[in-house]
Amino acid sequence: MNETVYKERRDRLLEMMDDGVAVLSTAIMQMRSNDTEYPFRPNSDFYYLTGFEEDNSVVVLCKKGDEHKSVLFVQEKVPEMELWTGERLGVEAAKACFSFDEVYGIKSFEEQIKELIKEHTLLYFELFDDNKVYAQLKTVAKTMLHTRGVTVSPRSFSDITKLTQQMRLIKSDDEVALIKQALSITEQAHHHAMKRCRVGMLEYQLQAEYEYLFKKEGAFSDAYTTIIAGGNSANTLHYIKNDQLLKEGELVLVDAGCEYGFYASDITRTYPVNGIFTPAQKELYNMVLDVQLKVIAAIKPGGSKKELQAFSEKLLTEGMVAFGILEGEVEALLEEKAHKKYFPHGIGHWMGLDVHDPCPYSDDNGDELLFEEGMVMTIEPGIYLPQDDEKIPKKYWGIGIRIEDNILITKEGCENLSQGIAKTVDEIEVACC
Ligand code: GLY
Ligand code: MN
Ligand code: MN
Repeated sequence: MNETVYKERRDRLLEMMDDGVAVLSTAIMQMRSNDTEYPFRPNSDFYYLTGFEEDNSVVVLCKKGDEHKSVLFVQEKVPEMELWTGERLGVEAAKACFSFDEVYGIKSFEEQIKELIKEHTLLYFELFDDNKVYAQLKTVAKTMLHTRGVTVSPRSFSDITKLTQQMRLIKSDDEVALIKQALSITEQAHHHAMKRCRVGMLEYQLQAEYEYLFKKEGAFSDAYTTIIAGGNSANTLHYIKNDQLLKEGELVLVDAGCEYGFYASDITRTYPVNGIFTPAQKELYNMVLDVQLKVIAAIKPGGSKKELQAFSEKLLTEGMVAFGILEGEVEALLEEKAHKKYFPHGIGHWMGLDVHDPCPYSDDNGDELLFEEGMVMTIEPGIYLPQDDEKIPKKYWGIGIRIEDNILITKEGCENLSQGIAKTVDEIEVACC
């Protein structure tokens, strides 16, 4: 994305802030074991405001009336370190490549932050994140408080993520383009894997087909750990062991989406291991698909996630009654939440830089946020019918089905960004053969 996009975001955030100083740090390198590290990925809010991908960096935004200033701290260039871990941009190049008012080396953070927070009473930071930078910040603020002659020092703290998460709710065209790119790769991966899925494969072997395609097409990472759940394992919602055999006559539920340009995709498809649905699988699958299509058709500006949740629960409960999974009146079953046993999760969630984008679902009064053009969410109804559940017809035992797409809310309604991924019974059977 063009560098000016990030500057505009910082300017917008400064407009939203009260007078004060905001400090956002990126993620830190995490050790995997002894001296080997997990791959680095920047903190989403930090990246949203800077476009800067290196670790060990901090952004500071200062506001006093009309005076706004944005400052970046980066890891200094250290040739001995670069020999091992590669070239860094360094202070001078970061100054030239990014439009910050000031850029400093991270080693000078403590010294510079003293100057930057001077004369300010309000500090914004990620309230629920504890890291070294915030510890330094608090130490500096505390020292100021106890310094003779200093009459103004920070005494109020506010959560900056409340503002950034509000900003992240509405996606720009550039962001939607990245999500679409992620989805184009995810689509190829699902189709590639459907073709290669065989009875007798291990779940992780099918996972490898997804990961191969993600990497091959330039998505460096998955957006979350892939779920490959054969048969009854699909009834464990966050099943990630992926170490069992894929068996004849069973379905496999695959929840897999890549991350591209740090933007997520989040797609679930459920398909027969041998490529052909049994009659029992087909009738349940079509019921869930029908629910998913009806829920998507109901999405438009002014609607809300709460409405979609209630609508999907009603439709799924009707389906469960029709197939003898629940017995009784739909309204009464909904009232006593009987359906939750077989559909225990939400109908969807915001998606963007994070697969579960941490944007608000309600306003400060607790009122549901209404859909607006530019929001992106998943729609993912499912039904989970455990093995040996005497309460349900035996032919459905051990079947778990979820169908998940990624939806952009538009001016008039919505656009299914993942509509190219095989989803009907016929499309899936063709894709699997
Ligand atoms: N893949 C996580 C989710 O569907 O929410
Ligand atoms: Mn999801
Ligand atoms: Mn998912």
